[in-house]
Amino acid sequence: MENRSQWGTRVGFLLAAMGSAIGLGNIWRFPATAYESGGGAFIIPYLFALLTAGIPLLIMEYTIGHRYRGSAPKSYATVNKKMEWIGWWQVLVAFVISTYYAVIIAWALMYAFYSFGQSWGSDPTAFFVGDFLNLADPGTIGGLVPKVLIPLLIVWLVVLGTLSRGVKKGIEVANKIFIPALVVLFLIIVIRAVTLPGAMNGLNSFFEPNWSRIMDPTVWVAAYGQIFFSLSIAFAIMVTYASYLPRKSDITNNAFITGFANSSFEILAGIGVFSAVGFMAFQYDTTVSGLAAEKGVGGIGLAFMVFPEIISQIPGIPGLFGFLFFASLVLAGFSSLISISETYVAAVSEKFNMSRQRAVIFGGGIAALISLLYATRGGLNILDSVDHFINSYGVALAGLVEVVAIAWFARALKDLQNHANATSDVRLGSWWRFCLGVITPIVLGFQMVQNLITEFA
Ligand code: PHE
Ligand code: NA
Repeated sequence: MENRSQWGTRVGFLLAAMGSAIGLGNIWRFPATAYESGGGAFIIPYLFALLTAGIPLLIMEYTIGHRYRGSAPKSYATVNKKMEWIGWWQVLVAFVISTYYAVIIAWALMYAFYSFGQSWGSDPTAFFVGDFLNLADPGTIGGLVPKVLIPLLIVWLVVLGTLSRGVKKGIEVANKIFIPALVVLFLIIVIRAVTLPGAMNGLNSFFEPNWSRIMDPTVWVAAYGQIFFSLSIAFAIMVTYASYLPRKSDITNNAFITGFANSSFEILAGIGVFSAVGFMAFQYDTTVSGLAAEKGVGGIGLAFMVFPEIISQIPGIPGLFGFLFFASLVLAGFSSLISISETYVAAVSEKFNMSRQRAVIFGGGIAALISLLYATRGGLNILDSVDHFINSYGVALAGLVEVVAIAWFARALKDLQNHANATSDVRLGSWWRFCLGVITPIVLGFQMVQNLITEFA
């Protein structure tokens, strides 16, 4: 396998891994989760989750990819023949996510251009569900929504075009452009947001610690859930990306850098989002908590209903702030979608001995066709249910099965630890095996049970 594709540079790999990690989850998931889970006090469960599960698992996935040099199914199969299906399951979850992630990026692309003319008018919520998505009759699958089709086509062309150019010329080059650009745009947005009137009130509500919340187990589960989703772990992605690392690579350090970069971006996004929400509260002469309760501060609603309202009221060059915001969503989304799609392209081409180009056309083509499902009337409802199902069961369960299989079934941790230690001067010790073999399975198991209870009880 010595002709396996490789990253050109260490920075190239790091930017690609950060590109995967930094996504919509940082911008619209983290701020809302932190706010609802204790504000400033959330930092304790959050850091705990990052250090006991996020980074240890990232190290494990990097080590598996680096050591066995295969896409997820093949790498897991090399650890133990009976584990190939775990890789395929993760690939399948990634595939499903890619089908709706693409649609959200397509919306953001349209909204970046809508920003200039503030095309959403005076009622952005009505515009989004009515004019834009045509959800005239929610719950039914109607015809295709024409407004979304062209941006969706562009999204897939960019992503699949990138993947077909390969690891170094495609994925690495794209991330070397997208990620620095994203950081610059986002810094401009945050600086603008914190200097708006009312921003300080927003930040106070965001950072104000509610210590009593950290006694609540659901807050801890939320912290672990955020870290897993946000670091793109248990999605087959990081194994695949690490399989393109040159032999001489510092695995452990790379994992720490990826983990801290992702969290820094998350906190930055929290500052930006809550400054903007504080500004909106100031405009409406209401409180931040009242506004947050009424409008919601996360997810699709935040990006496509609340933000347009804020954007329309921001003084200065009309549309510029909005354009930058939606352009950031697009850049963050693209680099994540590239990574999700690479997992199935790599797995399929390896398994069926197909060229990368064929796997891109075959895998990406099917994903693109399925994504049309969400571009129909009622598509938003389908998207919501699929997303809920994937996040509640797909990810947590895949993560649980992965750590239990590696730690207890294949008993491979010690071996992986030695492999990682040979690459780095950051030493992994028994603490690392304890995090993966004991802490992570307990938390994920608890999370599964809790999800099932809230669903069915
Ligand atoms: N980590 C990305 C984010 O925070 C989301 C993602 C999930 C990307 C799964 C790839 C795979 O938005
Ligand atoms: Na993230």
